[in-house]
Amino acid sequence: MLPTYPPRSIWPAAEGALEIIDQRWLPHEYRTEQLTTLAETTRAIEEMRVRGAPLIGVTAAYGLYLALREAPSRANYLQHLAMAAAMLKATRPTAINLAWAVDRMVNALTALSPDILTHQDSFVQKARELADEMAEADVATCRAIGEHGYKILEALHKQHPDRPVQMLTHCNAGGLGCVAYGTATAPLYLSAERGLPVHVWVDETRPRNQGALTAFELKRIGIPHTYIVDNAGGLLMQRGQVDVVIVGADRVSLGGDVANKIGTYLKALAAKDNQVPFYVALPASTFDPKLKDAFAEIPIEERHPDEVNYAYGINELGKASRVLLTPEGTKVSNPGFDITPARLITGLLTERGTCPAKESAVRALYPEFA
Ligand code: MRU
Repeated sequence: MLPTYPPRSIWPAAEGALEIIDQRWLPHEYRTEQLTTLAETTRAIEEMRVRGAPLIGVTAAYGLYLALREAPSRANYLQHLAMAAAMLKATRPTAINLAWAVDRMVNALTALSPDILTHQDSFVQKARELADEMAEADVATCRAIGEHGYKILEALHKQHPDRPVQMLTHCNAGGLGCVAYGTATAPLYLSAERGLPVHVWVDETRPRNQGALTAFELKRIGIPHTYIVDNAGGLLMQRGQVDVVIVGADRVSLGGDVANKIGTYLKALAAKDNQVPFYVALPASTFDPKLKDAFAEIPIEERHPDEVNYAYGINELGKASRVLLTPEGTKVSNPGFDITPARLITGLLTERGTCPAKESAVRALYPEFA
């Protein structure tokens, strides 16, 4: 059964377990599964059963709780925590939200009084509370991003009140990639709630077709949309059929350079050439204040060649199947993310408001960044 509105991507299950949607089967099958151990959690992140920067962060936080829960009763819990943290951080390298969530959990748990540290039950309970808080905070944060993004869509609608606002998005920066609402899609949830007419061009986003997840999600909330191949966006922009591009992010420097799903950079170039506003939606946890040079320092995940060589889908008999696209043995390069320079970005859309993609503006919104 679907969780209630706004649909959630991770939620509590019986006996302290967590339940997730196995997103590998979407949009054709809505399968859920339970996470009860650290190993199941690392596998879920590695295999992209859960994906999207904020969601992998929250899932990793729950992974630490699950790791502590299964620690032997005489374990050194802090050592056990450090081991689990290292395993979780190694699962996917590009999105900073994963390391952010793990570090936040480890710091909070390490700072507890020595008394709690020796009592497994209270330590585990504290870890669960912290992970639950992180999940709830993600929902509130995305809703706030939605409020600020809604203002952008509303202003565009005032310019063309006779037709829906035409938005283009890449990948799935949706509720499926967060706990709920999403980042780039959050303004769409609010538009649906408030009756603002919007139509979305959904980039397919090869090789894993996360656009199909966005289409699934927009159908679920009733936002009109059209699925396009990744190369169509430029033409649509030249024809004046795109009012605004909003994408998500996996890691952003304070100077406003953005790592996001491969293909984002090309959309930003096309948007710049056609004077289409290009916004990047992100929560505070996606900034990496330690970055000096995003191009040199952000690790770009190199993914399995099979993602490119094969396509997955439902065949004419209604069965899940995969087909080979390339000549057998073809050499493949499959970088998962690219970096869009700040100069191509109209604004960063955050839970604290929208700001130019430059360091002074980001620091003004987030004075706490070191
Ligand atoms: O490889 P994925 O599917 O985890 O990549 C996801 C993206 O690039 C998203 O756009 C980003 O994480 C933002 S999710 C709200």
